[in-house]
Amino acid sequence: MSDNSEITVAIASDEDVVPARAEGRALASELGFSRTDATLIATAISEVARNILVHAGKGRLRLHPAVEDRRCGVVVEAQDSGPGISDVEAALRHGQASNGGLGLGLPGAHRIMDEFEIDTEIGRGTTVRMTKWRPRDELERLHARRGREDE
Ligand SMILES: Nc1ncnc2c1ncn2[C@@H]1O[C@H](COP(=O)(O)OP(=O)(O)OP(=O)(O)O)[C@@H](O)[C@H]1O
Ligand SMILES: [Mg+2]
Repeated sequence: MSDNSEITVAIASDEDVVPARAEGRALASELGFSRTDATLIATAISEVARNILVHAGKGRLRLHPAVEDRRCGVVVEAQDSGPGISDVEAALRHGQASNGGLGLGLPGAHRIMDEFEIDTEIGRGTTVRMTKWRPRDELERLHARRGREDE
């Protein structure tokens, strides 16, 4: 798999959440994440995808791998041109809900992922960028180096 393989999933209805989850799970297992971690990543993807639907109407998800020498990761970007979030800190607190939700989505996704950034502007939209990392051990790195030499 190349470093720049990027997947984009348009999020415009409930039916789009299932393939978004599946793509996230597939990318995570390709990158050697455990089944448990792949499920967690899929859960975080569901939450940001649902937020796009509920709070912004539509948007898109981008998924891509990040491969470094000592670690590799799944990078998820959820982007919309919706109303934006006025108080990001509050939105990240448990129980900060609107539109009939419980307010667990963003804090849950935050907790699952290792890196979590929200870029938002009122009236312009929101981008949530999140990454989950997995360390690459010595043997794996050795194999990767050998693989490159063979190319
Ligand atoms: N993409 C978005 N655009 C605009 N506002 C958002 C977006 N995502 C989250 N928010 C705001 O942040 C708040 C917290 O989001 P969170 O996902 O934690 O809760 P929720 O969606 O209200 O409920 P739940 O996810 O538990 O069903 C939301 O209530 C909403 O006001
Ligand atoms: Mg939510």
